[in-house]
Amino acid sequence: MRMRKLKWAADFIANSEVNVHNPEIYQGKWRELLNRDCIHVEIGTGKGDYWIGMANLYPELGWIGIEKQESVAALALRKKDTLEQQTRFIHGDAANIDQWFAKKEIDVIHLNFSDPWPKNRNKKRRLSNERFLDKYHQILSDDGQIIMKTDNRSLFEYSIIEFQNFGFKLEEIYLDFRSEQHDEDIISEYERKFMEKGPIYRAVWVKGGK
Ligand SMILES: C[S@@+](CC[C@H](N)C(=O)[O-])C[C@H]1O[C@@H](n2cnc3c(N)ncnc32)[C@H](O)[C@@H]1O
Repeated sequence: MRMRKLKWAADFIANSEVNVHNPEIYQGKWRELLNRDCIHVEIGTGKGDYWIGMANLYPELGWIGIEKQESVAALALRKKDTLEQQTRFIHGDAANIDQWFAKKEIDVIHLNFSDPWPKNRNKKRRLSNERFLDKYHQILSDDGQIIMKTDNRSLFEYSIIEFQNFGFKLEEIYLDFRSEQHDEDIISEYERKFMEKGPIYRAVWVKGGK
Protein backbone atom coordinates (compact mmCIF):
# COMPACT_ATOMS: atom_id res chain seq x y z
CA MET A 1 0.00 0.00 0.00
CA ARG A 2 1.62 3.23 -1.17
CA MET A 3 0.30 6.50 0.17
CA ARG A 4 1.56 10.01 0.70
CA LYS A 5 3.14 10.79 4.03
CA LEU A 6 0.70 12.32 6.51
CA LYS A 7 2.28 15.14 8.51
CA TRP A 8 0.27 14.40 11.64
CA ALA A 9 0.99 10.66 11.65
CA ALA A 10 4.11 10.51 13.89
CA ASP A 11 2.56 12.69 16.62
CA PHE A 12 -0.73 10.85 16.43
CA ILE A 13 0.97 7.48 16.95
CA ALA A 14 3.15 8.89 19.74
CA ASN A 15 0.02 10.03 21.61
CA SER A 16 -2.09 6.93 20.95
CA GLU A 17 -3.01 4.83 23.98
CA VAL A 18 -3.92 1.91 21.74
CA ASN A 19 -0.42 1.78 20.23
CA VAL A 20 2.11 -0.12 22.32
CA HIS A 21 5.26 1.98 22.14
CA ASN A 22 7.74 -0.57 23.53
CA PRO A 23 6.23 -3.94 22.66
CA GLU A 24 9.33 -5.86 23.81
CA ILE A 25 8.46 -4.90 27.40
CA TYR A 26 5.33 -7.07 27.16
CA GLN A 27 7.08 -10.16 25.80
CA GLY A 28 5.49 -13.06 27.70
CA LYS A 29 2.85 -10.78 29.27
CA TRP A 30 0.34 -10.12 26.48
CA ARG A 31 -2.32 -12.45 27.87
CA GLU A 32 -2.11 -10.56 31.13
CA LEU A 33 -2.11 -7.12 29.45
CA LEU A 34 -5.12 -7.94 27.28
CA ASN A 35 -6.78 -10.03 29.99
CA ARG A 36 -7.54 -12.73 27.42
CA ASP A 37 -6.40 -16.38 27.15
CA CYS A 38 -6.38 -16.46 23.37
CA ILE A 39 -4.41 -13.88 21.37
CA HIS A 40 -4.86 -13.12 17.66
CA VAL A 41 -2.37 -11.00 15.71
CA GLU A 42 -2.94 -9.41 12.32
CA ILE A 43 0.27 -8.55 10.44
CA GLY A 44 -0.06 -5.70 7.95
CA THR A 45 -3.38 -4.24 9.10
CA GLY A 46 -3.43 -1.49 6.49
CA LYS A 47 -6.03 1.04 7.62
CA GLY A 48 -7.36 -1.39 10.21
CA ASP A 49 -10.85 -2.49 9.11
CA TYR A 50 -10.15 -6.21 9.70
CA TRP A 51 -8.35 -5.79 13.03
CA ILE A 52 -11.04 -3.46 14.39
CA GLY A 53 -13.95 -5.41 12.91
CA MET A 54 -12.74 -8.74 14.28
CA ALA A 55 -12.07 -7.23 17.71
CA ASN A 56 -15.68 -5.97 17.75
CA LEU A 57 -17.01 -9.32 16.55
CA TYR A 58 -14.97 -11.41 19.02
CA PRO A 59 -14.40 -9.29 22.16
CA GLU A 60 -13.69 -12.45 24.16
CA LEU A 61 -10.36 -12.77 22.26
CA GLY A 62 -7.26 -10.56 22.35
CA TRP A 63 -6.52 -8.64 19.11
CA ILE A 64 -3.15 -7.11 18.24
CA GLY A 65 -2.69 -5.29 14.92
CA ILE A 66 0.77 -4.70 13.42
CA GLU A 67 1.55 -2.22 10.64
CA LYS A 68 4.93 -0.89 9.59
CA GLN A 69 4.01 2.15 7.46
CA GLU A 70 3.66 5.21 9.63
CA SER A 71 0.86 6.99 7.75
CA VAL A 72 -1.17 3.80 7.34
CA ALA A 73 -0.70 2.90 11.02
CA ALA A 74 -1.88 6.39 12.02
CA LEU A 75 -5.05 5.99 9.93
CA ALA A 76 -5.78 2.64 11.61
CA LEU A 77 -5.21 4.15 15.05
CA ARG A 78 -7.42 7.11 14.22
CA LYS A 79 -10.26 4.65 13.55
CA LYS A 80 -9.62 3.00 16.92
CA ASP A 81 -8.83 5.80 19.31
CA THR A 82 -10.48 4.46 22.46
CA LEU A 83 -8.58 1.96 24.50
CA GLU A 84 -10.27 -1.37 25.19
CA GLN A 85 -8.44 -3.90 27.25
CA GLN A 86 -8.44 -6.67 24.65
CA THR A 87 -7.18 -4.61 21.70
CA ARG A 88 -3.71 -3.17 20.98
CA PHE A 89 -1.62 -2.04 18.04
CA ILE A 90 2.07 -2.14 17.24
CA HIS A 91 3.52 0.32 14.75
CA GLY A 92 6.55 -1.65 13.63
CA ASP A 93 8.07 -4.14 11.25
CA ALA A 94 6.93 -7.74 11.78
CA ALA A 95 10.52 -8.82 11.12
CA ASN A 96 10.93 -8.07 14.86
CA ILE A 97 7.93 -10.11 15.97
CA ASP A 98 10.06 -12.63 17.88
CA GLN A 99 11.34 -9.78 20.09
CA TRP A 100 7.81 -8.67 20.98
CA PHE A 101 6.21 -12.05 21.73
CA ALA A 102 7.49 -14.97 23.77
CA LYS A 103 7.61 -18.55 22.52
CA LYS A 104 4.07 -20.03 22.15
CA GLU A 105 2.41 -16.79 23.27
CA ILE A 106 0.22 -16.28 20.18
CA ASP A 107 -2.72 -18.44 19.12
CA VAL A 108 -3.61 -17.17 15.65
CA ILE A 109 -1.77 -15.06 13.05
CA HIS A 110 -3.80 -13.39 10.27
CA LEU A 111 -2.24 -12.35 6.96
CA ASN A 112 -4.67 -10.40 4.81
CA PHE A 113 -3.71 -9.37 1.30
CA SER A 114 -0.01 -9.24 2.09
CA ASP A 115 2.20 -7.42 -0.40
CA PRO A 116 3.04 -10.02 -3.09
CA TRP A 117 6.59 -8.80 -3.91
CA PRO A 118 6.42 -10.54 -7.33
CA LYS A 119 10.12 -10.28 -8.19
CA ASN A 120 12.18 -13.23 -7.01
CA ARG A 121 14.90 -10.98 -5.65
CA ASN A 122 12.34 -9.55 -3.18
CA LYS A 123 10.89 -12.84 -1.98
CA LYS A 124 12.44 -12.46 1.49
CA ARG A 125 10.07 -9.53 2.07
CA ARG A 126 6.97 -11.68 1.57
CA LEU A 127 5.22 -12.26 4.89
CA SER A 128 4.98 -15.96 3.98
CA ASN A 129 8.72 -16.34 3.29
CA GLU A 130 10.54 -18.89 5.46
CA ARG A 131 12.33 -16.02 7.22
CA PHE A 132 8.95 -15.01 8.71
CA LEU A 133 7.64 -18.56 9.07
CA ASP A 134 10.52 -19.37 11.39
CA LYS A 135 9.45 -16.52 13.69
CA TYR A 136 5.75 -17.39 13.46
CA HIS A 137 6.58 -20.97 14.38
CA GLN A 138 8.39 -19.80 17.51
CA ILE A 139 5.67 -17.49 18.82
CA LEU A 140 2.67 -19.71 17.98
CA SER A 141 1.17 -22.01 20.61
CA ASP A 142 1.38 -25.77 19.91
CA ASP A 143 -1.99 -25.84 18.12
CA GLY A 144 -1.57 -22.26 16.82
CA GLN A 145 -2.90 -21.30 13.39
CA ILE A 146 -2.03 -19.02 10.51
CA ILE A 147 -4.93 -17.76 8.39
CA MET A 148 -4.18 -16.16 5.05
CA LYS A 149 -6.41 -14.42 2.52
CA THR A 150 -5.27 -13.02 -0.81
CA ASP A 151 -6.46 -12.26 -4.32
CA ASN A 152 -2.99 -13.06 -5.67
CA ARG A 153 -2.80 -16.62 -6.99
CA SER A 154 0.99 -16.63 -7.36
CA LEU A 155 1.47 -15.49 -3.76
CA PHE A 156 -1.05 -18.09 -2.62
CA GLU A 157 0.73 -20.93 -4.45
CA TYR A 158 4.11 -19.74 -3.20
CA SER A 159 2.77 -19.63 0.37
CA ILE A 160 1.28 -23.13 0.20
CA ILE A 161 4.69 -24.54 -0.78
CA GLU A 162 6.58 -22.41 1.75
CA PHE A 163 4.27 -23.43 4.64
CA GLN A 164 4.39 -27.08 3.56
CA ASN A 165 8.21 -27.02 3.45
CA PHE A 166 8.28 -25.51 6.90
CA GLY A 167 6.11 -28.25 8.39
CA PHE A 168 2.86 -26.31 8.88
CA LYS A 169 -0.19 -28.50 8.21
CA LEU A 170 -2.77 -27.23 5.74
CA GLU A 171 -6.14 -27.52 7.45
CA GLU A 172 -8.55 -25.57 5.23
CA ILE A 173 -8.35 -24.19 1.72
CA TYR A 174 -10.81 -22.06 -0.28
CA LEU A 175 -10.30 -21.11 -3.91
CA ASP A 176 -13.26 -18.69 -3.92
CA PHE A 177 -13.91 -17.81 -0.28
CA ARG A 178 -16.42 -15.01 -0.92
CA SER A 179 -18.61 -17.05 -3.27
CA GLU A 180 -20.36 -18.11 -0.04
CA GLN A 181 -21.56 -15.99 2.85
CA HIS A 182 -18.92 -15.80 5.61
CA ASP A 183 -20.29 -13.48 8.26
CA GLU A 184 -17.79 -14.91 10.75
CA ASP A 185 -14.93 -13.19 8.94
CA ILE A 186 -14.61 -9.43 8.39
CA ILE A 187 -13.89 -8.13 4.88
CA SER A 188 -10.66 -6.08 4.80
CA GLU A 189 -10.17 -2.90 2.71
CA TYR A 190 -8.20 -4.70 0.01
CA GLU A 191 -10.61 -7.59 0.04
CA ARG A 192 -13.55 -5.28 -0.63
CA LYS A 193 -11.70 -3.92 -3.63
CA PHE A 194 -10.61 -7.27 -5.06
CA MET A 195 -13.63 -9.49 -4.37
CA GLU A 196 -15.51 -7.78 -7.20
CA LYS A 197 -12.70 -8.52 -9.62
CA GLY A 198 -12.02 -12.22 -9.00
CA PRO A 199 -11.73 -15.02 -6.44
CA ILE A 200 -10.40 -14.58 -2.92
CA TYR A 201 -8.11 -17.41 -1.83
CA ARG A 202 -8.02 -18.41 1.82
CA ALA A 203 -6.09 -21.05 3.73
CA VAL A 204 -5.64 -22.09 7.34
CA TRP A 205 -2.49 -23.83 8.55
CA VAL A 206 -1.81 -25.42 11.91
CA LYS A 207 1.59 -25.46 13.51
CA GLY A 208 3.27 -28.81 12.91
CA GLY A 209 5.83 -30.63 14.94
CA LYS A 210 9.00 -29.13 13.40
C1 LIG B 1 -1.59 -4.70 0.61
S1 LIG B 1 -1.75 -4.03 2.21
C2 LIG B 1 -3.15 -4.89 2.86
C3 LIG B 1 -3.78 -4.17 4.01
C4 LIG B 1 -4.91 -4.92 4.75
N1 LIG B 1 -4.43 -6.12 5.39
C5 LIG B 1 -6.05 -5.24 3.83
O1 LIG B 1 -6.30 -6.42 3.58
O2 LIG B 1 -6.74 -4.32 3.39
C6 LIG B 1 -0.39 -4.78 3.07
C7 LIG B 1 0.01 -4.03 4.32
O3 LIG B 1 0.98 -4.80 5.01
C8 LIG B 1 1.95 -3.92 5.55
N2 LIG B 1 3.20 -4.66 5.76
C9 LIG B 1 3.96 -5.25 4.81
N3 LIG B 1 5.05 -5.82 5.35
C10 LIG B 1 4.97 -5.60 6.68
C11 LIG B 1 5.81 -5.92 7.78
N4 LIG B 1 6.96 -6.59 7.60
N5 LIG B 1 5.44 -5.55 9.03
C12 LIG B 1 4.27 -4.86 9.22
N6 LIG B 1 3.45 -4.50 8.21
C13 LIG B 1 3.78 -4.86 6.96
C14 LIG B 1 2.08 -2.84 4.49
O4 LIG B 1 2.66 -1.65 5.00
C15 LIG B 1 0.64 -2.68 4.04
O5 LIG B 1 -0.03 -1.68 4.77
